Amino acid sequence: MSATAVVGAQWGDEGKGRVIDYLAQNAHMVVRYQGGDNAGHTVVNAFGTFRLHLVPSGIFNPQTINIVGTGCVVNPDTLLEELADLEAAGVSTDNLYLSNRAHVIMPYHRLLDGLREQARGGKAIGTTKRGIGPVYSHKAARVGIRLGELAYPDRVRERLRLALPWVNRELAAYGHPPVEEEDILAKVDIWWEKLGHRVVNTLPLIRDALEQERRVLLEGQLGVMRDLDWGIYPYVTSSNPLAGYTPVGAGFPLRYVEEVIGVVKAYSTAVGGGPFPVELTDEVGDRLREIGGEYGATTGRPRRCGWLDGVALRYSAWLNGYTGLAVTKLDVLDTFDTIHVCVAYRLPDGTITREMPDVPILEQVEPVYEAWPGWNSPTGHIRRWADLPENARRYLSTIEELAGAPIRYVSVGPERDQMIVREAGS
Ligand code: GDP
Ligand code: IMO
Ligand code: MG
Repeated sequence: MSATAVVGAQWGDEGKGRVIDYLAQNAHMVVRYQGGDNAGHTVVNAFGTFRLHLVPSGIFNPQTINIVGTGCVVNPDTLLEELADLEAAGVSTDNLYLSNRAHVIMPYHRLLDGLREQARGGKAIGTTKRGIGPVYSHKAARVGIRLGELAYPDRVRERLRLALPWVNRELAAYGHPPVEEEDILAKVDIWWEKLGHRVVNTLPLIRDALEQERRVLLEGQLGVMRDLDWGIYPYVTSSNPLAGYTPVGAGFPLRYVEEVIGVVKAYSTAVGGGPFPVELTDEVGDRLREIGGEYGATTGRPRRCGWLDGVALRYSAWLNGYTGLAVTKLDVLDTFDTIHVCVAYRLPDGTITREMPDVPILEQVEPVYEAWPGWNSPTGHIRRWADLPENARRYLSTIEELAGAPIRYVSVGPERDQMIVREAGS
């Protein structure tokens, strides 16, 4: 076996953490390949309920090696908190490694994220304020600092002398006092002392796993619609959740990606700004939010809710090339008499399209819906595909048609075992 990418097919929060936690029971390795602690991956299992931000969702299986990959960005302070919470719940974190090439989210990145958002006023992206945009922009501008460099304080000092004048000019423009080199260096010592033993060259670990044909899961953060290149720019994150980024972010040749599992929530949610054509601001949207518990796992913000956006799903299916799907939160639809699916958009000139337009047009489209009869019966206890109500299976087959890929897993609740694994041929 080789690598399986598990990626978000929509606007994020599809249930990636939950799916990885399930699959990691039989995986040798889980690698996060992009993003940082902007992620909120909820896992509910025998250890309790967790909202993982940077730690890969395979951490609960002590046999699984968990890697924060090169394409990720690491806030050492929040990571230490996350590790302490896991350990307090009895979860061993000895199986966690961090790529020495991953970039460090410095305190000034978080500061800048907040100030940049404030300066955008009504056009704010609605970021998680975790410093993601600033750290990735510093990475691209080549003034970032990588985890492995933290072992060499003199080197960090040199690097800070390049970065800080730039940072402080920006802070001054916002009327904020400058950041002091010594304050950062004091933190660097503590970070290295506490995290240094986990910082390694992750390349040989991943290479060995793949060469030995062990099962490696690649855990995506966010979803296609917030991808830096293909999402609703500028209302996007600063990394690439797309499956195509996995070889870069983890560090292996393309040909090892054997499976791409798209995680599809049975309806749509988004948190943060930007166009979201299927958003329902009526009581149906409120019901989806309440039944689905749709509040941000990282920021607690209420998520925008609506019916499944089939245009976005079809778009993400092409971009990611799904070999299979994991549909989550089917149970949330159990009590709806009618379920709608957006199958196309109506453009401002009245034309109907199934293609994803870019943002200036997307902001003006109207969703075109098809209606499906609901099933009006609970599904949370179901564990076999054949036991799903017929209308639920019909609805699921619509999702398969839109994505052009077979459903392999159906999640009917947040708990680890509330998963239907579809048998071949069913
Ligand atoms: P992620 O960021 O993609 O990992 O998803 P989040 O954890 O942010 O959001 C998914 C939410 O749905 C979490 O609260 C999960 O506990 C919950 N969840 C996941 N799968 C299911 C499911 O099948 N049914 C229900 N009711 N909740 C689910
Ligand atoms: P998971 O991995 C949902 C959204 C923010 C904002 C935009 C940019 O749990 O699916 P950023 O802080 O990355 O600069 O914010 O992306 N966002 C998420 N939305 N789930 C997430 O992660 C998100 N991470 C970022 O709301 O609109
Ligand atoms: Mg989330």
